[in-house]
Amino acid sequence: MIGRDLLGIEDLDRADLERILETSARMGEVGLRDVKKVPTLRGRTIINLFFEPSTRTRTSFEIAGKRLSADVVNFSPSGSSLKKAEGILDTAMTLDAMDPDAVVVRHEVAGVPKRLADALDAPVVNAGDGAHEHPTQALLDAYTVWEEKGRLDGLTVTIVGDVLHSRVARSNLYAFSKLGAEVRLAAPPTMLPPAVETLGVKAYTSLREAIEGADVVMLLRIQKERLEGCFFPSIREYAATFGLDRDKLRYARDDAIVMHPGPINRGVEIAHDLADQRPSVILDQVRNGVAVRMAVLYLFAGRSPEREG
Ligand code: CP
Repeated sequence: MIGRDLLGIEDLDRADLERILETSARMGEVGLRDVKKVPTLRGRTIINLFFEPSTRTRTSFEIAGKRLSADVVNFSPSGSSLKKAEGILDTAMTLDAMDPDAVVVRHEVAGVPKRLADALDAPVVNAGDGAHEHPTQALLDAYTVWEEKGRLDGLTVTIVGDVLHSRVARSNLYAFSKLGAEVRLAAPPTMLPPAVETLGVKAYTSLREAIEGADVVMLLRIQKERLEGCFFPSIREYAATFGLDRDKLRYARDDAIVMHPGPINRGVEIAHDLADQRPSVILDQVRNGVAVRMAVLYLFAGRSPEREG
């Protein structure tokens, strides 16, 4: 994988995914040590290029790079020459000229990481682009399920919420399907992609039917600021119909886990008490994000012989 871009789960095969998950398990052990640092990427430089707000992804990429002893640079668009009308491509090419070993990109527009990947020498890691993909979120989600259940093959994973606008849903759909799980989607009809059946998943407009017998229930964030009145009548109605609480969770398997990529809207897609306690694994997902991003940086940001030469 060295020198490759990581733009989406769609581009990876099952063997790639399994290699990343197995590497993540080894990286997770570093986080359990007194000194949480290994020299693996000493002398390497990682640039975090986030054009859209982020807490989990940006911070965990930074921690991941530092645990591997890389030099991590957090580029801040607000304090850069972007404010002097420099374009994103020129900005990225300028940073690339400083010879980083990887550039981690988040942007609100789908396709920006691919555009940069085509122009830069350094491998580009997509940290979320518009409604396209969020590959490292799906990898940490798959890793969390693997850690909890010991397998992915044969599990039923139900993804609930605004599937149409969700890069997390898209990446998870690819990841869990490739790893042998059955994926179900649950949403109001206005939030399901057109021709959803061609994606090889089952789609439901009834939450109860969608989570019946599920091993994993994954909730998506409702973007309250954008969606109310457009895709469903009100937040209150969404919460009543698709919000998950312990009562509705009874339809899933007894040992089902509840996941959410964050940030969460308490009392909307997830009940307050469910967000903070088992079977919710939301903070385990966050913790595993560091290990998975260490694995991604290790596997994609090492030096290929050509770059070394
Ligand atoms: N899950 C996720 O991408 O969160 P952030 O926006 O905080 O990075």
